[in-house]
Amino acid sequence: MKKVLLMITSPTKGGNGDALINAAAKVAKQVQAEVTTVHMRDLQVHFCQACYGCARTGVCVQNDDFRALLKQAHKADVIIAEAPIYYNCMAAQMMTLFNRLCCTFACKTYELGVPKRVGMMLTCTGSEEAEMKHQVDLILTLPSLSRSITAYQTEVFTGCQEATTCQKTTAYLERAERLTRWTLEEE
Ligand SMILES: Cc1cc2nc3c(=O)[nH]c(=O)nc-3n(C[C@H](O)[C@H](O)[C@H](O)COP(=O)(O)O)c2cc1C
Repeated sequence: MKKVLLMITSPTKGGNGDALINAAAKVAKQVQAEVTTVHMRDLQVHFCQACYGCARTGVCVQNDDFRALLKQAHKADVIIAEAPIYYNCMAAQMMTLFNRLCCTFACKTYELGVPKRVGMMLTCTGSEEAEMKHQVDLILTLPSLSRSITAYQTEVFTGCQEATTCQKTTAYLERAERLTRWTLEEE
């Protein structure tokens, strides 16, 4: 049974991110995957302090909710994460998670866990799709992360003027479902 970690970083309850991740959850549950959904809005995850305390031990000096989340991420066969675009970047909630992965490059003996497929879903109103995808490329192709990612795909959902846009747009929900099916394919 595949372990699927779904991560919502949008702060908006019932918003676009929720709708897309719900669509992903539906597909993953249909194939009997073991699904865990994490809402960043319910967690306490502090900024990376750049202290490099993790360099020796591989463990961040801050004992907040990131520790448990990282353990879940390592165990997952598939990660699907959504982020809203703020100021032409992935929102700070998502970037904070990436920043907290300092241990993956600072600690030379760090082990990343199960190799996995990753699906990224970005929602925005009018930011340029290719540029938003490029941001994901720049991060997920870093050697410290790419060594545990067998493949990834990014979907950008533009025109999200309202919190209910994705929920009301069948084509968007279908894209989220298709992305999920792809992450669940055998290598
Ligand atoms: C502070 C802030 C900054 C934003 N900046 C952008 C932006 O640069 N480009 C864009 O297309 N949309 C921008 N948006 C719109 C959000 O990306 C969009 O509404 C998103 O789909 C919200 O997802 P949600 O419903 O899950 O909250 C911004 C929204 C906020 C609150």
